[in-house]
Amino acid sequence: MAKNLVQFLIEEQRRNPTDDDLTGLLDDIVIACKKIAYNVNKGGLIGVLGSAGSENVQGETQKKLDVITNDIFIEACEWSGHYAALASEEMDDVHPIPAQYPKGKYLVSFDPLDGSSNIDVNISVGTIFSILRCPKGVTTPTAEDFLQPGTRQICAGYALYGPATMMVLTTGNGVNGFTLDNGVGEFFLTHPNMTVPVDTQEFAINASNQRFWEAPVQRYIDECVKGKSPGGREKNFNMRWVASMVAEVHRILVRGGIFMYPFDTKEAGKAGKLRLLYEANPMSFIIEQAGGLASTGRGRIMELKPTGLHQRVPVILGSKNEVERVVSYHKGT
Ligand code: AHG
Ligand code: MN
Ligand code: MN
Repeated sequence: MAKNLVQFLIEEQRRNPTDDDLTGLLDDIVIACKKIAYNVNKGGLIGVLGSAGSENVQGETQKKLDVITNDIFIEACEWSGHYAALASEEMDDVHPIPAQYPKGKYLVSFDPLDGSSNIDVNISVGTIFSILRCPKGVTTPTAEDFLQPGTRQICAGYALYGPATMMVLTTGNGVNGFTLDNGVGEFFLTHPNMTVPVDTQEFAINASNQRFWEAPVQRYIDECVKGKSPGGREKNFNMRWVASMVAEVHRILVRGGIFMYPFDTKEAGKAGKLRLLYEANPMSFIIEQAGGLASTGRGRIMELKPTGLHQRVPVILGSKNEVERVVSYHKGT
């Protein structure tokens, strides 16, 4: 039988010794994701679908499951002594560790339910997380302590609640994917050493925003759409858009592709849609560890110095040769 996730982590830690208690840290998150999978999977049977009737800090209407999954994640991570504080897409401020629990050395930021517009229509959703070290000497972390570039992540991953529930993660030594065996209640290694093919013929972008894109992205997509016809490319392209970043990144890890939520002028003051700390950085770490690239179009996402907990950034990630092409179109703009 394939290795389970805990065995995999312990063996990896033996091979690449580190002071970081990755097994313990990830245990909390694995439990959270199993509970979230259970709730997502039961759906209408347990009355969790539909709107919560509230808005998050970013002015987005929250689904009931946005709130429920956020609570599940917090409950699973706050008690164990691994974390010094938590930050979530669904909470205005940093979540401190309650006084009755010990504080740990790590910070975790997370998107408890990614792609939540898909939840009521029974399409794949996910959970994304990113783990940082808490700065030395800090006992009560504030938002400032989370504003570390993505290059400082020690671990990042996502759970995908699709036809099968999967956990895909990196601790900086490649990317591995695990599938939840519901009968046993454990994740087993099914996708070792995931790598993103360098070339692709598949792109993912929300084309309804086309009129708001900048010239380099307009040019790139125009060429892909034209394919082998005049003014296009040496090959034809296919297009996918799930509207769940987790599902798009997973597809790219399995068969290649390029995913873009680029800079647009749709809403003044927002540099993009996706959030640096909860979505862009963890997914960039995973994609880069799998041999792909992740850029804003003008620079490596993981080298950005975050300026705010809920900061949004343009995201262009996936197969190396296509991301490089889009970046080259941005040069001098
Ligand atoms: P969330 O559900 O956490 O708010 O994230 C949704 C994100 C991302 O998963 C997806 O790629 C994108 O928003 C979809 O946006 P559009 O609805 O604009 O296509
Ligand atoms: Mn999201
Ligand atoms: Mn979300």
